[in-house]
Amino acid sequence: MKILVATEKPFARKAVEGIGAIVAEAGYEVVLLEKYTDKAQLLEAVVDVDGLIIRSDKVTSEVVDAAKNLKIVVRAGAGYDNVDLAACSARGIVVMNTPGQNSNAVAELAIGMMIFMARNKFTPGTGTELKGKRLGIHAYGNVGRLVGRCGKALGMEVSAYDPFITDAAYFEAEGVRKVDSVEELYSTADYVSIHIPATPQTKGSIGYELLKGMPKGATIINTARKEVIDEAGLMQVLTEREDMKYATDVAAECQVELDEKFGKRVFATAKKMGAETAEANINAGLAAARQAVGYLKDGITKFQVNK
Ligand code: 3PG
Repeated sequence: MKILVATEKPFARKAVEGIGAIVAEAGYEVVLLEKYTDKAQLLEAVVDVDGLIIRSDKVTSEVVDAAKNLKIVVRAGAGYDNVDLAACSARGIVVMNTPGQNSNAVAELAIGMMIFMARNKFTPGTGTELKGKRLGIHAYGNVGRLVGRCGKALGMEVSAYDPFITDAAYFEAEGVRKVDSVEELYSTADYVSIHIPATPQTKGSIGYELLKGMPKGATIINTARKEVIDEAGLMQVLTEREDMKYATDVAAECQVELDEKFGKRVFATAKKMGAETAEANINAGLAAARQAVGYLKDGITKFQVNK
């Protein structure tokens, strides 16, 4: 059996070594395609592999067609919007993610961005503190929960909205106020931290109507996916509301215009960096290797996302 680790972004050395050790221990061969620049390299590398480990690399139907022996794809991360699930399912290829493995890195970045925006992007002048402010968590999954905990540690009042978690005790146990609608979340938060995946239902779902209801001086932090924002709506609300701010780890399509028009009120990282820590690379990479081997050896399908 052969497992390909294909990642356009560099992986921490310890992640690569750890993956190699897990695959070798299983008696399988590992192939590394790292920092590749051309999709053709991926198409060529997948031809004879049984397993594929990726980060945000796109697994299109073209990749699936080229991978004649492929049985499993593991996304070393949480979101799997980069994988054509239908194409994989049609071929009986199992797709998994590694939930929770890089969550801490993303949560820390979200909090860092809040402080950065509260302090005017670290430029001279009087900023504000997070203490005592209201933090709204949009989707209370692995990342959202950690952001909530950090927010509480900083003295913020934390609320969360998650349509998939109905059990109020789950929120209460963390001292978080459960909110029953997305409108209530946005209209009662000084900071909203977005943690929803990009799905057909969520894409473009955060737009003008929702954002315009936010309190005076509100800041939106997006470490999720750029696609969940309706950019025209965002542009409109930032134009009308000079008090509002937007910071993102995933530059908008219209980021240049946002930067030009709104200067200090907007921020985008140069390149998506939420999970870009050695720890997150190692946790997600090793989990992906264990899951790929576990499936190929023993048929374990835990964390399969295309059932
Ligand atoms: C995820 O979905 O796990 C995060 O967005 C991080 O993705 P990355 O590992 O591709 O940076």
